Amino acid sequence: MSELRDTPGSTMTFAPRPTGSPTTFAGERISYQRLIETELAALELAVRGIADVPNAVLARTLSIVLGAGGKRLRPALVLLASHGNPHASLERRIALATAAELLHTATLVHDDVIDLAASRRGSQTVNHVFGNTLAVLTGDYLFGKSGELVAGLGSPPIMSVFSWAVMELVKGEMLRPQLTDDLAETEREYVAKIRGKTAVLLAMACETGSMLDADDPQARSSMHAYGMSLGMAFQIIDDVLDFTATEAELGKPVGNDLRQGTVTLPSILYMREHPDDSSVRRVLNGGASDSETEHAVDAVRHSKAIESSRQCAARYVAEAVGHLSTMPNTPARRALEALAEFVVIRHD
Ligand code: IPE
Ligand code: IPE
Ligand code: MG
Ligand code: MG
Ligand code: MG
Repeated sequence: MSELRDTPGSTMTFAPRPTGSPTTFAGERISYQRLIETELAALELAVRGIADVPNAVLARTLSIVLGAGGKRLRPALVLLASHGNPHASLERRIALATAAELLHTATLVHDDVIDLAASRRGSQTVNHVFGNTLAVLTGDYLFGKSGELVAGLGSPPIMSVFSWAVMELVKGEMLRPQLTDDLAETEREYVAKIRGKTAVLLAMACETGSMLDADDPQARSSMHAYGMSLGMAFQIIDDVLDFTATEAELGKPVGNDLRQGTVTLPSILYMREHPDDSSVRRVLNGGASDSETEHAVDAVRHSKAIESSRQCAARYVAEAVGHLSTMPNTPARRALEALAEFVVIRHD
């Protein structure tokens, strides 16, 4: 499957999400969720049950991150990719879906240490409440637990895709796009980074879901490619929301990417569209005052770069949906199409 590893990557309003409740669209479960309603309920119990450990400190840190909700997007991908497969039992689908959510949550706990973030999923972060040491250890526990669940499926090929994802996302998170005069190169490095840190996890969820008690190389390849493209769109919208959303909507800090010198697509496109304005470049290089920084964040927020970034995400979504075209037109495929459309219009 090595060639697959190189795949490149409304006007309706959302009510703010109360802490711990599932993501809804205009107060309703989003359409892709309806098909897997029963599975998502079982998943929720399984995920929250992971915090039930004898060690009181670990129980507390785990319940902070696992009990606070979240969109449960990666498990939904596992469940949809394995939907309709009569050989994959509910129990095994939930185990794999739980592993995907735990791996994702591990990366979030560590990401909040890296990004010095104080809130996540509408709650205080583990690093904020308990410090970095316990946050690193909690993330490590979640990595281990997700590996245990995948190993329990007894499928070396699934274990191998899972391990590949862990290694790729670490390499992606380590990349630091360089800010030179060549913005095209900066954009290429940004694309490589988000491919690694975000898209591979969505691809892993889709690919392993399609592999569970099944042997269909075409479905596996399509689901991998769909997840990669979807993941690119997902991270670009996350980077847009960092400029446009509120902390109440996202349940996590906003505006911090630029403030902390993290290069994202809206900043790159802003610099390209405003070659004579050096403010964003100065902030990213760490040479701006606080007021200059706030001015630059505001300038990007109100610029065309936001819409251009959304259009870039929409192209990845179209690419993702295109990868589904070789698959039978089942309810699961239609739900995956709806999920892809949701990714660009989401507000949290
Ligand atoms: C946040 O992912 C991290 C990114 C890859 C952008 P989500 O936005 O899916 O976070 P939760 O699971 O809903 O909290
Ligand atoms: C995605 O990047 C993080 C991971 C893939 C772990 P961000 O740093 O933008 O994620 P958020 O915005 O904090 O969720
Ligand atoms: Mg980060
Ligand atoms: Mg972060
Ligand atoms: Mg972000």
